[in-house]
Amino acid sequence: MNEFLIPSSQPLGPVKAGHLAWRSPSNIAIVKYWGKFGRQIPANPSLSMTLEDSFTETHLFYKPAGSGEDPIRYFFNNERSPSFEDRVVHFIEGVREYFPFIEKLELEFHSKNSFPHSAGLASSASSMSSIALCLVSLEQDLYKRFSDKQFFLKASFIARMASGSACRSVYPCFAAWGRSDGIPDSTDAYAIACERFDPVFATFHDDIVIVSSDEKAISSSSGHALMNEHPFAESRYAQAKANARELFQVLKNGDLKRFGEIAETEAMTIHALMMSSSPGYTLLLPNTLSILHKVRVFRKETGLPVYFSLDAGPNPHILYPAHIKDSVSAFIRTDIQPLAENGVIIHDHCGMGPVQLQ
Ligand code: PMV
Repeated sequence: MNEFLIPSSQPLGPVKAGHLAWRSPSNIAIVKYWGKFGRQIPANPSLSMTLEDSFTETHLFYKPAGSGEDPIRYFFNNERSPSFEDRVVHFIEGVREYFPFIEKLELEFHSKNSFPHSAGLASSASSMSSIALCLVSLEQDLYKRFSDKQFFLKASFIARMASGSACRSVYPCFAAWGRSDGIPDSTDAYAIACERFDPVFATFHDDIVIVSSDEKAISSSSGHALMNEHPFAESRYAQAKANARELFQVLKNGDLKRFGEIAETEAMTIHALMMSSSPGYTLLLPNTLSILHKVRVFRKETGLPVYFSLDAGPNPHILYPAHIKDSVSAFIRTDIQPLAENGVIIHDHCGMGPVQLQ
C-alpha cells in the first residue's frame, strides 16, 4: 500500500546506534479469521478482544551495518533462537520495501513473553505485533512522519504480514480486521480500533484454562490452507461476515447474550471446520469438551453471562464481565481448575493495548 511507503523526498542522513522497545499483548478473536489468500488477505472479517497480561516485550537494538555479523538477529529469553529468527528474517525481508533504511542497519531483537513458553498459548499475535511496533517506531524516530493514528495503522499493516491475528493486537479493547459492509473504514490491509462499545465489555475477564501445554500438532498456516478446498468454506465466510457485522453492533448496544452466542458459535465453528477438512484433525481434548459443557450448565443454572471462546488449540477462554467475578471465580476454582493441566489457568482481561517501554 503506497500510503505506507516512505516518500523518496524524505532522504535519511547517517543513523546512530540506538535502542527502543515495545510491550504488545495477545488477543482473542471473538469472530475468527480462518482462511486466507494472496499476501495474508483474510477470507473473512474478524473482531477480537485485546488482552492485557499475556504480552511479549521486544527490545530492538540497532546500529549502522558493517560489523560482519548477521544483519538481523533474534533472541528469545536471552538465547539466539534459529527457528524464530528464520521467521523474523523472512518477515522483515517481505516488508523491506516499507523500511528501506533497514539496509543501512543491523537489527538485534530480544523478546520475552509474560506467559510461560509452554502455556499452550499462541504467541505469534503478541510477538509479531511487538516486532512490527519496533520497526515502525524506529521509522518514526528517524522520519517523524506519523500522527498517532497513522503510526498504529502502519504497525497493524506490517504486523499483518507476519501473522494475521497480530494486526489486531496494536489497539486497546476491541479491533476489527477485514473488509466488512457493517464496519466503517474496515479493510483487509490492516486492523482498525473499534472505539465505540458499551463499557461492560471493557470489564471483560478472560480466564484461559490450560488443558494442554503441548505444541500444536497442526500450525495455523496449515489450517488456513485447508480452507482453500473446504466444502463448507463459502457458507463459513458468509457466516463470519454476518457475525462480524452483528458483533460490531452488539459491542455498542451491550447485548451480552448475543455477544456470548456469537463467541461460542465462532469457537465451535472453527473447530468443526478443522475436524471436517481434508485431511481432518481435532485439537479439542476430552477435558476441553467437559469444560465447555460445564460453562453451559453453569450459565443455565445461574443465568449469569459466562461464555467461552477457543483459539486454534484445546485451551478454553472463559469470558465474563467483572460484575460477576466472585460467582465465576468460585465456579472456576471448584469445577474447572481440576480439569486444567497442573491446575494452570491464566487470568487475563480486556486490555489497554501496546505500550512503548523506556
Ligand atoms: O494469525 P494466525 O495465522 O496465527 O491465525 C490465527 C487464527 C485464529 O487464532 C484461530 C483465529 C484468529 O482470528 O485469531
